[in-house]
Amino acid sequence: MSSDLHAAPWWQQGVIYQIYPRSFQDSNADGIGDLRGIISRLDYLNDGTEKSLGVDAIWLSPCYPSPMSDFGYDISDYTDIDPLFGTLQDFHELLQEAHRRGIKVIMDLVINHTSDQHPWFIESRASKASDKRDWYIWHAGNKGKPPNNWFAGFELKSAWWRDETTQEFYLATFTRHQPEVNWRNAQLKEAMFAVIRFWLEMGVDGYRMDTVNWYLKDELWRNNPWHLQLNPPDLQRHIYDRNRPETHGLCRDIRRLLDSYSERMLVGEIFCDDARLAAEYYGKSDELHLAFNFAFLFQPWSAKHFHHKIVEWENLLPTGCWPNYTLSNHDQPRHYTRYAQGTWSEPRARVAAALLLTLRGTPFLYYGEEIGMANRHIARRELQDPMGKKLWPLLPGRDGARTPMQWDSSPHGGFSFAKPWLPLNPDYPVKNVVGQAGDAQSLFSFYRRLLWLRKKTPALLLGEYRSFATTPHDFLAYQRSYNGESVSVLLNFTRRRLRIHLPQLPTGRVLLSTHRGEGEKVDTAHMELQAYEVLLLA
Ligand code: GLC
Ligand code: CA
Repeated sequence: MSSDLHAAPWWQQGVIYQIYPRSFQDSNADGIGDLRGIISRLDYLNDGTEKSLGVDAIWLSPCYPSPMSDFGYDISDYTDIDPLFGTLQDFHELLQEAHRRGIKVIMDLVINHTSDQHPWFIESRASKASDKRDWYIWHAGNKGKPPNNWFAGFELKSAWWRDETTQEFYLATFTRHQPEVNWRNAQLKEAMFAVIRFWLEMGVDGYRMDTVNWYLKDELWRNNPWHLQLNPPDLQRHIYDRNRPETHGLCRDIRRLLDSYSERMLVGEIFCDDARLAAEYYGKSDELHLAFNFAFLFQPWSAKHFHHKIVEWENLLPTGCWPNYTLSNHDQPRHYTRYAQGTWSEPRARVAAALLLTLRGTPFLYYGEEIGMANRHIARRELQDPMGKKLWPLLPGRDGARTPMQWDSSPHGGFSFAKPWLPLNPDYPVKNVVGQAGDAQSLFSFYRRLLWLRKKTPALLLGEYRSFATTPHDFLAYQRSYNGESVSVLLNFTRRRLRIHLPQLPTGRVLLSTHRGEGEKVDTAHMELQAYEVLLLA
């Protein structure tokens, strides 16, 4: 292997797998996933052999103590584990067991807000004279009214909540139970930096940073302009409550802290529909290592749309910055369902997987996508997500993407011996890990092949990206090249057979395909792609 390959950091070469701890594996029959459950499934993720999925890192959604108003995104103690998930000792063991298998561990860092049960907030709200008053965002309001029109998206109400004790408003733009901290306060900053150090000292490999573009707010408390938007849904342009320029200074400070440890990484959620804004959080390679690119979460099934998003992202990133792609996460409907089309749903999932895993950039997988887990319809009485409860039936909420992992066909899908906190998708008896692991033609086997092929193919890990077609309609065709070696990727986005003529596409042999045998020679001067064919040529 070339020296660059050794020089490239793990998070550029690796595939990162998001685990929603509540839903991955329950070890003590309370119907809720936990850390010991995750430990017991590490071999599934990567046991060093091609029998396992082969991911390189896991990102755990929050497992800190929390009243669970937003299922852990409301933290009441930053330096412990919630008893529902286990103990700090369990976490140590998870870290050790993951590292033993070469799997990195990334924690969720939720530092824009705490729980209203966090001791800091309890102290802050107790009196205007409290030492910690200024650790949160308080405002006296205007004649008993909130100071501006900022909006709490999960509550469909003003984001300013009047507190009885002091008759002032605190700011919380998710649920009212998630008061936002004041990053302009030096002591708060110091306390949060101690939190960041705590887990780094323990050996975690980095952080997924929650809601980065929320960190700082306008000091003049100006109103946002109203603006209705459907995908993702929103009512305002967030000029003053998010995306403040000062946030970049804070990101640089956090980056410096991370860089004082070796090989740690930051990936941040910049929730917006503007890739330009997200790209800004890479700074000059001195802010986040990766700023999530959420473009694929909102793309219709169209080669053209995907192509535009890829080119846009490649062009936006500052030199030296590394792309990333995501098809699904815990906040959006699963892509298997977004792109479902009867019997073509699974062929489409293969095309999507091949795209995600062959583009230039770090792929993020969401647990269960490797077996084609679908979004579950959640009845109103089954709703758990606070946002879903509030916005039902306007929006279904996020529970449908958080159902338990489908391990096998036993009652509760091998997830638990008890009734799970959210119902399993009813398709679990026919769609599960055990069934697919033993079937060479399954979606899981396809993911597995892609992941292991990636590992041993420098062009796929680090190669440059070049598109063969400038305005593709039905298919994507691109090349990844590294040190004189190239892999060509062809993806048919339609159910039609396509005759392809791309003069620059070199003739080659099949590395991996949904329709052809490995090693088969392909004459690219006269070729056809079958319906939803994935073809990798070298
Ligand atoms: C992020 C998380 C989401 C959470 C919100 C508030 O968007 O991904 O799950 O509800 O932040 O913390
Ligand atoms: Ca449990």
